[in-house]
Amino acid sequence: MAFIDEIKRRRTFGIISHPDAGKTTLTEKLLLFGGAISEAGAVKNNKVKKGATSDFMEIERQRGISVATSVLAFIYKDRKINILDTPGHKDFAEDTFRTLTAVDSVIVVIDVAKGVEPQTEKLVEVCRMRKIPIIVFINKLDREGKDAFDLLDEVEQKLGLTTTPLSFPIGMGYDFKGIYNIWEKKINLFDGDKKQKISKGVEFTDINVPELDQLIGEKAANTLREDIEMVEGVYPPFDQQDYLNGDLQPVFFGSALNNFGVKELLDCFIEIAPTPQPKEAEERIIDSKENKLTGFVFKIHANMDPKHRDRLAFIKIVSGTFKRNVPYLHVRNGKKMKFSSPNAFFAEKKEIVDESFPGDIVGLHDTGNFKIGDTLTEGEIINFKGIPSFSPEHFRYVNNADPLKSKQLYKGLDQLMDEGVAQLFTLELNGRKVIGTVGALQYEVIQYRLEHEYGAKCTYENLNMHKVCWVQPTNNKEEFAEFKRVKQRYLAKDKQGQLVFLADSAFTIQMTQDKYPSVKLHFTSEFK
Ligand code: G4P
Repeated sequence: MAFIDEIKRRRTFGIISHPDAGKTTLTEKLLLFGGAISEAGAVKNNKVKKGATSDFMEIERQRGISVATSVLAFIYKDRKINILDTPGHKDFAEDTFRTLTAVDSVIVVIDVAKGVEPQTEKLVEVCRMRKIPIIVFINKLDREGKDAFDLLDEVEQKLGLTTTPLSFPIGMGYDFKGIYNIWEKKINLFDGDKKQKISKGVEFTDINVPELDQLIGEKAANTLREDIEMVEGVYPPFDQQDYLNGDLQPVFFGSALNNFGVKELLDCFIEIAPTPQPKEAEERIIDSKENKLTGFVFKIHANMDPKHRDRLAFIKIVSGTFKRNVPYLHVRNGKKMKFSSPNAFFAEKKEIVDESFPGDIVGLHDTGNFKIGDTLTEGEIINFKGIPSFSPEHFRYVNNADPLKSKQLYKGLDQLMDEGVAQLFTLELNGRKVIGTVGALQYEVIQYRLEHEYGAKCTYENLNMHKVCWVQPTNNKEEFAEFKRVKQRYLAKDKQGQLVFLADSAFTIQMTQDKYPSVKLHFTSEFK
C-alpha cells in the first residue's frame, strides 16, 4: 500500500472518562467490532482498585496491565484504529495528559445518570486547550438517567463544548426503546433479550411517516418527532471542519455494556475523525505526509521484572516510515540508534514489526536512553512541543534512608522521573530534593520501586505547598533580582533546569504576581 494511503487509513485516538463511566467496556466493544478479540471480558480492567492506596500487588498488577493495554490496535473496514489507553485513576492524571499529546482525537464517555464528573472536566479542558477534536458518548442509556437535553446543556456548560447530537435516545432506562441515528437516518431498536446482538436498524429518512408509529408506538414516535425538531432547531448542524477544528462536538447516545449505539459511533468515527495530524515542533510544523521519519516519546514503561531494568519507550510516529534496524537520530543525545525489535501493538498483544507509519505507536526497548518528550528523526534537529509538565498537587521532601546506597537512590530517582512517575525539584537554597506528584499513590509506587528495582531506600517529609509555578525570566533585571532575593527559600530547579517557585497558597501566587508584575508565573512548564 502506498505511504499516503497508509496515513489516510489511520485513526489514533484516546477514550477519556471519569472512572466507572464505561471506558473499558466501550474499548472492549470497539475491539469486538474490529474482530480483534472474540469475547467480552478480554480487555483487562486497567484501573487501580477503588480505595487501594497501599496494595502493592495492585500497583504491580496495574503496571502489568497498562503495558498490555497501552495501545490497542485493530482493523475495522480497512481502517487501522489505534486506541491509546488513558488511566482513569486521578493519581495518574499526568500520564493521561501526556498520552493526549499523542492522540489525534478523543472520545469522551459520560455516564447518563452521573453527568459530567470532575475527572472528565479536567481532561476535556486539556483537550479543548489543544483543540483536539472530541466526540461525546453518553453511556448507560439502559439505566434511568438525566434528560437528554439537560445532559447536553450540562456538557456545554461544564465542559465548555458546543454540541450537536448525531444520535438521539428513544426513551430511557426501563422505557429505553432505542436510538434514532441522526447521522445515518436510521432507527435502531433495543432488544433487551439479545444483549450482545448488533441490531441492523431500519432506515427512516423521514420520521414523519406512519411506519414509525407502527415500529415504536404512537407515543414514542411523537416524542421522537418533537425531540428531533428541537435538536434541529437548537443545535448547529454537524460540520466536519468545525469538529476537526475543535469548535463543534458531536454527541452519541448508547449503552456500551449492551453493545448499543457503539457500532453507530464507530461507523461515524471512522468517517469523520482526523487522520494523523501535523505536529508543531519548536523548529517548524511537521506534516504527517513528509517522507522522513519523525516521532516522539510520550510514555515510558518500566519492565515488570526488576531483574531486567529495561523499559519500553512508546513512540508516536509523526511523519515518515519507522523501519526496523535503520539508524535514527536521538535528537537530545545527538546519537544515532537503531532498533532490532520494535514492537507494534495489535489488540492486546504486541509483536515485532518491520515498518510503522504516521499515527502508529511503536514500543522500543530502552536501557535508559529515553525520557518523555525525546525525538527521533533521520538527522534533522526537531524538538516537539506540547509535552509540558503540569504543577503537581502533593509535595514531599525525599531523604536517603541508607547512606551507603545514595548512588542507587539518585539513579533510581532520575530514571523514575524520566518515566514521568513524578517530578523532582531541587531547592536553590540548600539542594534538598522535593518530589511533586498528582496523587498520593505515587509516593508509595516510588518507594516500592526504589527498593525493589534499585536497592535504595527513602523516607519522605511533608512539605505543605499548594502548587509550583514555572518562572518566566524578565528583562526587568532589578525586579527579577529582587524577586529571587526575597523568594530565595521557595525557589527550585526542575529536572530540566527551569526555575520554579513553590507557592504555599493561591493567595501567595496572587501576591507575588502583584508585587513582581514583570516576573510571569505559569502552571505549566511550557509557556512560550
Ligand atoms: P471505566 O473503565 O470507565 O472505569 O468503566 P468500566 O467500563 O469498567 O465500567 C464501569 C461499570 O459500569 C462496570 O460495572 C460496567 O459493567 C458498567 N457499565 C458500562 N457500560 C454500561 C452500560 O451501558 N450500562 C450499564 N448498566 N452498565 C454499564 P461494574 O459492576 O463496576 O464492573 P463489572 O463487574 O461489570 O466489570
